[in-house]
Amino acid sequence: MKRVDYYRIDLKQIPRKYRCSEKLPVTRASPLKLRKEVERFAIYFQREFEYPVQEFTAKEKRPYTAYLLSESKRRVWIGACCFRPQSGVSALDRETLRWIWLHPYYRMKGVLTGAWTKLRADHGDFLVEPPFSPAMRHFLLKHNSSSEFYSFYRNVG
Ligand SMILES: CC(C)(COP(=O)(O)OP(=O)(O)OC[C@H]1O[C@@H](n2cnc3c(N)ncnc32)[C@H](O)[C@@H]1OP(=O)(O)O)[C@@H](O)C(=O)NCCC(=O)NCCS
Repeated sequence: MKRVDYYRIDLKQIPRKYRCSEKLPVTRASPLKLRKEVERFAIYFQREFEYPVQEFTAKEKRPYTAYLLSESKRRVWIGACCFRPQSGVSALDRETLRWIWLHPYYRMKGVLTGAWTKLRADHGDFLVEPPFSPAMRHFLLKHNSSSEFYSFYRNVG
């Protein structure tokens, strides 16, 4: 059989009833099809960064608050992010942003900047978990200077 050396990135059309929000919360109690959408983006994230672990699965039982992110016309979901109640890398007992991934076409267009104020309002001064992509590090240094973790972001690659 022919070896396939590439991956597709599929984006799903948003069902009409979920088009009311640019940032749809998804928890363990959400319908499976929403959790599967978050899982799809966790897989894209894992593939892009060649992580050894998949950060999220649709049927997992650990607590989380994830979000499905849409483009401004709310036709398709373009990415996701996921918070968990504690850090995975330190003893910090604080909600942390574990991962975020946006489709490449929708990067550098202000999506995260637009969502950031509300994320900070809903989740407080959360830690963003390293390791950081260069894009995420730039974002944190430019747009998150009020955070108590700012010096940490400056010193961690
Ligand atoms: C990181 C990511 C979530 C940023 O979201 P975004 O919607 O593209 O970011 P925004 O357009 O809102 O913000 C842009 C700011 O972030 C920084 N930034 C984003 N991408 C950047 C890049 N490729 N290079 C340098 N800076 C970048 C800049 O500081 C920029 O500020 P400016 O526009 O004022 O110069 C998105 O690029 C992404 O999903 N990347 C792939 C996955 C990833 O890196 N996840 C984080 C793992 S730690």
